[in-house]
Amino acid sequence: MGQIAIFVLLSNLQLVLSSSLVIQSMPWRVPCPHQCVCQIKPWYSPQSLYKEAPTVDCNDLLLIQLPTSLPQETQTLRLQSNLISSVDQGELQGLVNLTELDLSHNSFTSTRNLKITNLPALLSLHMDENQLRHLPEAALFGLPNLQELYLNHNRLRSISPGAFKGLDKLLRLHLNSNRLVVIDRRWFHALPRLEVLMIGGNPVEIIQDLNFKPLNSLRSLVLAGMGLREISERALEGLENLESISFYDNNLIKVPKEALQKLSGLKFLDLNKNPIQLVQRGDFQNMLHLKELGLNNMEELISIEHSAMENLPELTKLEITNNPRLSYIHPQAFHKLLSMETLMLNSNALSALHSQTVRSLPSLQEISLHSNPIRCDCLIRWVGSDDDKPVRFIEPQSTFCSEPPELKSRQVKDVSFREMADSCLPLIAPSTFPSYIKVEYGDSVALHCRALAEPEPSIYWVIPQGVRLTPSSSYGRYQVLTEGTLEIFGVTAEEMGVYTCVAQNQVGADTRSLTLQVEGNNLGYTKSKKIEDRFEVQDVTVRHALLSWQASRNIPNAYLSWVANGSLDHYKHSIRILAGTRRFNLTRLQPDTQYTVCLHLGANDTACILLKTKEAPTPDPLPDLTPALLLAVSALLLLLVARACHGGHSLRLKDHILEFDKHHTTVLTQEAKPFMTVPMPEKLQKQQNPDKVLSDGRGNDLRSVSLGKNDLGQATKA
Ligand SMILES: *[C@@H]1O[C@H](CO)[C@@H](O)[C@H](O)[C@H]1NC(C)=O
Ligand SMILES: *[C@@H]1O[C@H](CO)[C@@H](O)[C@H](O)[C@H]1NC(C)=O
Ligand SMILES: *[C@@H]1O[C@H](CO)[C@@H](O)[C@H](O)[C@H]1NC(C)=O
Ligand SMILES: *[C@@H]1O[C@H](CO)[C@@H](O)[C@H](O)[C@H]1NC(C)=O
Repeated sequence: MGQIAIFVLLSNLQLVLSSSLVIQSMPWRVPCPHQCVCQIKPWYSPQSLYKEAPTVDCNDLLLIQLPTSLPQETQTLRLQSNLISSVDQGELQGLVNLTELDLSHNSFTSTRNLKITNLPALLSLHMDENQLRHLPEAALFGLPNLQELYLNHNRLRSISPGAFKGLDKLLRLHLNSNRLVVIDRRWFHALPRLEVLMIGGNPVEIIQDLNFKPLNSLRSLVLAGMGLREISERALEGLENLESISFYDNNLIKVPKEALQKLSGLKFLDLNKNPIQLVQRGDFQNMLHLKELGLNNMEELISIEHSAMENLPELTKLEITNNPRLSYIHPQAFHKLLSMETLMLNSNALSALHSQTVRSLPSLQEISLHSNPIRCDCLIRWVGSDDDKPVRFIEPQSTFCSEPPELKSRQVKDVSFREMADSCLPLIAPSTFPSYIKVEYGDSVALHCRALAEPEPSIYWVIPQGVRLTPSSSYGRYQVLTEGTLEIFGVTAEEMGVYTCVAQNQVGADTRSLTLQVEGNNLGYTKSKKIEDRFEVQDVTVRHALLSWQASRNIPNAYLSWVANGSLDHYKHSIRILAGTRRFNLTRLQPDTQYTVCLHLGANDTACILLKTKEAPTPDPLPDLTPALLLAVSALLLLLVARACHGGHSLRLKDHILEFDKHHTTVLTQEAKPFMTVPMPEKLQKQQNPDKVLSDGRGNDLRSVSLGKNDLGQATKA
């Protein structure tokens, strides 16, 4: 329950209590009960008023009953960790000023053994860690001035509807870590002034509608560790003065936004440690007094979506930390957060934070980004830019670049603006979805794919049948949402297989694949036919050939290879085929030459064809490469070298330049490399995995490329 304590501090109700003005105890010269210690000690009332209280401390003495001859002036009586199971009014007779009685960690099994009926000054009663099982009607009737009641860590299974009768002045009620399965609204009719209710750590699964309605004065509510799966729209209705609420450590799978909308005065909200995957558009909206929000320790959290937080004019601190899968914050996730000063984003899986995100926060003063796998390329460029007002980094000395390799372990703040490119490849974080999942027949699945890059990438999915699905489209049991989530409704054997998400922008593409296995299915998976018959040449000219093939399945690692008739094997070229592609425009071919072209769709599925280019009518003039263009290309090459160590399936400029033609179909354009002059290193041909081929060969290749010809080719995707 440490987190609960922290949260209460956060809610600042107890701030005065905790900000310990350490005042020394003073001696109190009275006849003190045997073994006890009598001193004047600092004491704070439940309303945080400071007092110097004559205190008798009899903690840890194995007492089975109260000590006799307690000094009359006693205000605080501490009897923690003894073996007391009953107290009689007679034993406290004459303690007219007793304000706090601490009987925590004793042996009470019933409040009937707590016969304290006339202690008019008692404000605070501690009964934590006893063995109370039930609170009967009017369980503590004789304590009309009681302001604090602590019943944490008992075994309370039931509480009678009128258990708190007579406690009209109670301000704080602590019922954490008991065995309650329901929260009964009738309890609260007796507690019109209650300000703090802590009822976490009870196996309550459902909060009923209007469950807290009578608690009109409540300011802080802790519902931590209860196994709550959802909070209905009207569950929190009536809590008009609530300022802080904690849902720490529950089973909420989405932000209970409708219920939260009813809390018009809410300032502090803790949703830490819930299995929420996405913080979605409108989840936090128009909460006019929200000051601090915590979304920490969420194992499942993947993405903070577009407009997730909107119009929170008083939000000053946002904490989204320790979420091991959180790799994506949409550039426009925040909108109208005019007071936000502190943004804590450390210890996530973020590769970057978009400059737009930072610029959307006009009051931002400090930011924490350490312990993230930061890519020190274009997306973090704002850090060193002069256009922005400076933002202070929390722990800059531990905010490192993890990519690109040559900047690895440099501090992000130390990498200058000039060392970063202004555009970069998409990156789909490995944490966004696993590479293998098994689901039950008939279940529905949502696979979230997100990627950050500059320019902003577009996303599509390729399903096992080889069909390419773009956002806002649906097909059979599939639907792709605008944000890049693929939904599959009611999986059958048909949906088994390999799924690939592709994120692409003008710089290149990144792909990530997943194998879906369906359990409880004996239908078998019909393997698709081999491709030989369907790989064909559609068109051949002097220097290019348009190839096409049918792909009735998704092969994320497909590649093409081609070699001129009679050439040595190490003049063989190969290129990766982006998943979902069915046509390729092979360019930079020699005129009047025969080629063997092979399409490799898997270890045992290779189809080869022969083609012959036409004769050249006139010699090709060499295009003139201006120095400016050379410079631009070398800048891009630098970027590519920088990305060479990324373990995923990115396609760099080396392989393709992606462009979007007027019909919005993707056009793959081969890199400007002189044809047949740069042999592939021999080791490449021995490589089995075409992805590896490309990334291994890249480093050397790139540095040795001389841009003699600008014979760009193109490939068109069908
Ligand atoms: C109780 O407190 C009052 C006010 O502080 C004081 O005047 C009175 O002497 C106290 N009574 C005892 C028995 O200490
Ligand atoms: C290509 O090579 C084959 C033998 O491998 C040969 O028979 C054929 O004539 C060659 N074609 C051309 C155009 O060089
Ligand atoms: C490819 O063929 C070989 C031998 O024919 C076989 O052992 C291997 O399992 C096959 N691989 C695949 C992926 O089908
Ligand atoms: C293939 O590339 C060549 C050379 O760039 C171009 O002229 C031709 O139009 C392209 N074909 C298609 C179908 O894109």
